[in-house]
Amino acid sequence: MNTEGAFVAARGVTAAGRSFLSRKLARMKIAAAIAALFFAVAAAPKKPTIQDINDKFVAQVTKTIAGHENEPAEQVFMDVRIPAMKAVPASKFLAIMKKGYAGALGVTCTHCHVETDFSSDDKAPKRAAREMAQMYQAINDQLRAMKNLEDPPDERDITCRTCHRGSVDPRESATP
Ligand code: HEC
Ligand code: HEC
Repeated sequence: MNTEGAFVAARGVTAAGRSFLSRKLARMKIAAAIAALFFAVAAAPKKPTIQDINDKFVAQVTKTIAGHENEPAEQVFMDVRIPAMKAVPASKFLAIMKKGYAGALGVTCTHCHVETDFSSDDKAPKRAAREMAQMYQAINDQLRAMKNLEDPPDERDITCRTCHRGSVDPRESATP
């Protein structure tokens, strides 16, 4: 029964019946409003994921280095100082940024980078990441020098993810 039909039907009934019907109508209106809200939310554009955002940044940077993807990062980018990163081909360097850095911490590129200038060191997390890279190198050097481990020395590496596991502060997930 539509709204108009309900009114017509209500006309002939008693006062009690009428107020019952108007309450029922009010409830129908609320249900319709809830349904409308539900469809509005479902139709809203999907928020881009961290992965989507990082893919977009990598695509943007990749465009600016077209033709130089396989040259050493040190030559292609402005300020590559981490020793182990200097000789890495530029496209692989970006893959490390995406999976090894942003992915390990569960952040977008702009957690560390100024969006308009990736060579800028203005953001503390970028500077912290360089120090972290030094620590990571030192740990791996120590691991390789150990004498009583089962795995061969070149298979003992830890990565940023070994500690961070998708969060900015690994201590949060490690402490019970
Ligand atoms: C956890 C911090 C961190 C995150 C997240 C991160 N980066 Fe970096 N990025 C760095 C650091 C540190 C350097 C400098 C490396 C060095 O000195 O060898 C760097 C350098 C770069 C450079 C070279 C800039 C230049 O011209 O010197 C590019 C390009 C870059 N990152 C792209 C990205 C992209 C794209 C993402 C996201 C997919 C990303 N980065 C995510 C820390 C980060
Ligand atoms: C041995 C464990 C360990 C490894 C390996 C490690 N980190 Fe960390 N990292 C930490 C801890 C613990 C903190 C939190 C320190 C604090 O805030 O006092 C931290 C903090 C950071 C921060 C600062 C937090 C912020 O505001 O973003 C950045 C950036 C970071 N790590 C990047 C990296 C990157 C990049 C790597 C790999 C090159 C890495 N870390 C490897 C343990 C680790």
